[in-house]
Amino acid sequence: MVWTTPSRVLGVMLGCIALLPAPATAAHHHHLHQRQHHHHGYSVGPPMWQTRPQAGETTATATVAASVIASASAVSSAQPAASSSASTISSLKAKVIIPFYIYPDPGKWTPLLNLITTFPDVHFTVIINPSSGPGTSTLPDAAFLSAVPTLTQHSNVLAIGYVPTQKGTRALADVERDINTYANWPTAANNASFAVHGIFLDEAPNAYSAELVSYYSTLASLIRSKTGLGPENYVVTNPGIPPDQAYLPLADSTVVFESPYTSFQDAIKADTFRAINGTSHSTLASMVYGIPDGVHLPTLLAQVGQISEQIFLGNTSSYMAWDPYMDSVVPALVEMV
Ligand SMILES: *[C@@H]1O[C@H](CO)[C@@H](O)[C@H](O)[C@H]1NC(C)=O
Ligand SMILES: *[C@@H]1O[C@H](CO)[C@@H](O)[C@H](O)[C@H]1NC(C)=O
Ligand SMILES: *[C@@H]1O[C@H](CO)[C@@H](O)[C@H](O)[C@H]1NC(C)=O
Repeated sequence: MVWTTPSRVLGVMLGCIALLPAPATAAHHHHLHQRQHHHHGYSVGPPMWQTRPQAGETTATATVAASVIASASAVSSAQPAASSSASTISSLKAKVIIPFYIYPDPGKWTPLLNLITTFPDVHFTVIINPSSGPGTSTLPDAAFLSAVPTLTQHSNVLAIGYVPTQKGTRALADVERDINTYANWPTAANNASFAVHGIFLDEAPNAYSAELVSYYSTLASLIRSKTGLGPENYVVTNPGIPPDQAYLPLADSTVVFESPYTSFQDAIKADTFRAINGTSHSTLASMVYGIPDGVHLPTLLAQVGQISEQIFLGNTSSYMAWDPYMDSVVPALVEMV
């Protein structure tokens, strides 16, 4: 899911682009979104699967990506669970992955921090996003400098940094600069707790292209080479739908679904996830948002858990505000694993 920053209009609807023929994607790449104020300006567009016109001015929403470590016996997984490639992650059974694009105004990170503290046996991968990426400065502002350590101090948190890739059309050097900026954070801040330990490569492609496989391989190698992103050096790509198999080994985790609940049900009916059947469950993530009232959460968790180990479930459509649905998802997840 893409969002726009105050400084740059980057409203890219990745998910929806994925299903469009190449010539159509450019037109969908830039959606203007009203920003509220400086750091809050961004919007999340409707994701893939949707064929209807995008609501360009959609207010950003929160997607909480909950990653369920698929060992859940209660979840009848089609694929065998495998241990995560990140050692620090593999020890915890329940996992969530949360697109957390919220500016750290006073109190705004508290709901997440409370959840993290309340559920120490749940692993939280938290995607932070200062400015549609790390921003152009060496370091983000003071609010981030004090907030990030409040996340990273928890052993059950893996914080990773958001980087847009525009389906591989963004200049490789620009993406590399963003990755290097994140990697330099602990050095620039002279504080090891001011760090992310991996990168979320948003707007990944799904159709095969040797050139694009090379592009994302280069990025993954860079991420894995950086001490400042270690020790996990966790690589996540987000095509939003099942991508060509060639992309799967490049990442530690691939987001194979990012769309609203109705689209998720449609995808299941269409047998969309057969494409990833056989892929290690622990290397897949799903993000379902816009979940309506009345959906039976354990049933939904079982459905999502069948597809991927890492899941996000939200009942809003924005990553810019805390999605209260996660306060229900995490305890339910703990019950299931
Ligand atoms: C690093 O930052 C954290 C949070 O702001 C602070 O508590 C800690 O003292 C800092 N460490 C150093 C070495 O400055
Ligand atoms: C995945 O493959 C297995 C065996 O190859 C099959 O039994 C199972 O039904 C498949 N699952 C889906 C969702 O296609
Ligand atoms: C989401 O869930 C929370 C908690 O269950 C509820 O208070 C809120 O109204 C829901 N929001 C939407 C948009 O459904």
